[in-house]
Amino acid sequence: MLLTVTDTARIAHGIWQLTLTGTFPYDTVQPGQFLMIRIGAGLEHVLRRPVSIAAVTEDSLAIVFRVVGKGTQWLSERKAGDGLDVLGPLGTGFPLPPAKARVLIVGGGIGAPPLYFLAERVQPLSDRLDVALGFQTQADSFWVDRFAVLGNLKLATDDGSLGLKGTVIDAVESLAADGLKWDYVYACGPIPMLKVVKQCFASQEVQGYVSLEERMACGVGACYGCVCQTGGGSGTRRVCADGPVFDWNGVVL
Ligand SMILES: Cc1cc2nc3c(=O)[nH]c(=O)nc-3n(C[C@H](O)[C@H](O)[C@H](O)COP(=O)(O)OP(=O)(O)OC[C@H]3O[C@@H](n4cnc5c(N)ncnc54)[C@H](O)[C@@H]3O)c2cc1C
Ligand code: FES
Repeated sequence: MLLTVTDTARIAHGIWQLTLTGTFPYDTVQPGQFLMIRIGAGLEHVLRRPVSIAAVTEDSLAIVFRVVGKGTQWLSERKAGDGLDVLGPLGTGFPLPPAKARVLIVGGGIGAPPLYFLAERVQPLSDRLDVALGFQTQADSFWVDRFAVLGNLKLATDDGSLGLKGTVIDAVESLAADGLKWDYVYACGPIPMLKVVKQCFASQEVQGYVSLEERMACGVGACYGCVCQTGGGSGTRRVCADGPVFDWNGVVL
């Protein structure tokens, strides 16, 4: 499908936000789902690039991405009025918690965008929403004000320029030290971070979900280029089609 860029902004160091409009199932898309975006005419960059849906209104959606290579560089150069050829929404999103659940959302760096969409959906349902976000520095941080409107926000940066000095795990531990307990924990970020988040709750009765951002080729379950290991070494699952969101007990982190 072809979406139109309506707005572009550089929102942090190397981080861009694009707002897109056009025919899209805005009312049924789930937080955690993503788009596969064609780069250029698709000749030089044959593989589409996966980018999460970060926010949705009734007639637009936003994506937020870090420029890491040629594909994301090309995306950052789009202007209002440009068309974007996208496939989506793809993948399996985050299951929402039951009403009145106590929820913790944990985002590391560029893992935060799909969690904003999730936080918007969780906030009206939950009894308590805590959000822990970690960035390298204040210059890398984005959407902090938007998250703060939705829940109790604890920030951490590696250099202490914003929030606690430390990692997002320090932010989680600081919330826990206040005596907070959660029924549901949702996380997105680098795999080592996801592993430690899961370990933090190993002795508690918590339902945990992680979003894995594996490298992808087809994005629709056909090529098996994105597999991850399931618990117990019993098999593999495709991140693009079976995920990217998984129950953290169902995958090897
Ligand atoms: C389901 C899913 C959702 C994603 N959502 C977002 C998002 O919301 N915002 C965002 O900024 N990025 C997101 N990513 C990562 C994004 O797809 C990659 O950064 C992008 O494809 C890189 O393309 P490129 O051509 O710019 O870089 P390339 O030239 O392809 O790669 C440049 C560098 O980035 C690394 N890289 C490439 N792909 C990934 C990846 N999937 N994960 C980690 N490192 C990668 C490469 O190893 C290399 O070091 C998501 C990935 C997945 C699978
Ligand atoms: S990217 Fe092809 S199966 Fe997942």
